[in-house]
Amino acid sequence: MLVAEGLAKHYGGVTALDGVGITLEAGEVHALVGENGAGKSTLVKIISGVVRPDGGTIELDGAPVRFADARQAARQGVAIVSQELMTYDDLTVLENLFPYGAPLRRGLVSNREMRRLARPVLSELGLDPAPYARVGSLPLADRQLLEICRALLQEPRVLILDEPTSALPREAADRLAATTRRLADRGLAVLYISHFLEEVMRVADRVTVLRDGHAVLPAAPASGVGLDSLVTAMLGAAAPAAADPRRVRRARTGGAPVAFTDVTVPGRLREVSLNAAGGEIVGLAGLQGSGHLAVLDAVCGRVRPSRGAVRLPNGVTPRSARHAVTAGVAYVSGDRKGRGLMLDKPLWENVTSVTWLGQGRDGALPRRSRLVERARTGLERLRVRGDVHARAGDLSGGNQQKAVLAKWLDAGPAVLALDDPTRGVDVGARAELHRIVRDLAAEGKVVLVASSDLAELVDLCDRVLVFQHGKVVDTLAAERLTEPGLSLAMNAGFAAPAP
Ligand SMILES: Nc1ncnc2c1ncn2[C@@H]1O[C@H](COP(=O)(O)OP(=O)(O)OP(=O)(O)O)[C@@H](O)[C@H]1O
Ligand SMILES: [Mg+2]
Repeated sequence: MLVAEGLAKHYGGVTALDGVGITLEAGEVHALVGENGAGKSTLVKIISGVVRPDGGTIELDGAPVRFADARQAARQGVAIVSQELMTYDDLTVLENLFPYGAPLRRGLVSNREMRRLARPVLSELGLDPAPYARVGSLPLADRQLLEICRALLQEPRVLILDEPTSALPREAADRLAATTRRLADRGLAVLYISHFLEEVMRVADRVTVLRDGHAVLPAAPASGVGLDSLVTAMLGAAAPAAADPRRVRRARTGGAPVAFTDVTVPGRLREVSLNAAGGEIVGLAGLQGSGHLAVLDAVCGRVRPSRGAVRLPNGVTPRSARHAVTAGVAYVSGDRKGRGLMLDKPLWENVTSVTWLGQGRDGALPRRSRLVERARTGLERLRVRGDVHARAGDLSGGNQQKAVLAKWLDAGPAVLALDDPTRGVDVGARAELHRIVRDLAAEGKVVLVASSDLAELVDLCDRVLVFQHGKVVDTLAAERLTEPGLSLAMNAGFAAPAP
């Protein structure tokens, strides 16, 4: 249905794509995988008219096409859900679903018509938002699903999903995978990008692996490719030894803790007491709205409890987000567009910006060359692909996420508050980030981590606190700390039949 050949794209001195072809067939899910910065998003942006290629051709049903922009591509049946969320946060759900103009009824915009069209698509993905809710008030996962609904409402023939599940909890990701399969069975051609390789292989008919702008494994039948060979194709010689992700005994624990005493945050936490010692990695789990994320917000000074006390390792209570930063709290969120990076600034400024905040007061600013050098070291440590002088917004999604982490590590924090810290990060870099987090814990830092990816909690945490209705209902550690165990504890009581 869609055939692309010889696509090339250069950004200044960077070669993002170097002669890549791909064929999308009706009724098939074609997976596209590769390391951060391999060129996946560039490829799909070209196919969907978002970016102009420097070379190559695209044919749709045998006829050459050249899209001027995404809107034109959409009119010809090619829809994309891009990696960075593109919701209009100040508009309502309905307004977001019909960006290219609302359906008219007797010449007027008809809300009723919009609701009628949207309903089946929303429910197919398990969404039930208030149609007039402001989209910015919805959780990240719902915003991600909403974008997919928006693409489906265009009734595309080719649907491109660039990391559609990176912010989704497991159930929603499974539901999306099933939906994707159904759409292909109805005759759509789907191109699916994800770093969750097992998920990809379950849903895909074919897989193409990109490395450094080349298709190193083109259109292989998914059933014939094992996970190991997939990872090797992705990472090439740099493939990490299958490192044991499991808890390594750490040298030092029992450092000064983050402590909650009877903390109540209206509508979110009810008299929660907890203690996370220095050297410990404590997970926070729960369904949406269960309160686990309020713990991070309270530690970061972004909400003030109405009752009870939060104490940081240095004994102080965070009074504001800024105060928490100066008290040594690092907050790394997967919602990086919202609060991760200054996209228009060079990488080095981003990476050193937290330290600036802490140092500005005594007047002595470090020299620029020193900052640049420090940023370079920090970025190399995380293997970020991108020049220190590059605009942060020009990095690939996964590399932006690594840069957010580099920024906080640069500040030498005492507490790490992590919320989906490896969202969109490739398997190699994810293992690397986990290793760094463990090292920091071993140095005596407190690590609190929430993740929509339960495997991440199991890999990383010493114990996981499970929240329901604003309270801790269970603590999982050692052999009880498994993905099914977590899922069960999070859902316990919800699905149980009435006695
Ligand atoms: N607008 C841009 N300006 C400059 N360089 C860019 C731009 N967009 C992408 N690049 C570079 O092109 C390369 C490929 O980026 P791309 O976004 O396609 O990677 P990706 O495979 O999608 O990675 P990820 O898994 O991290 O999303 C990267 O080195 C990136 O820094
Ligand atoms: Mg990408």
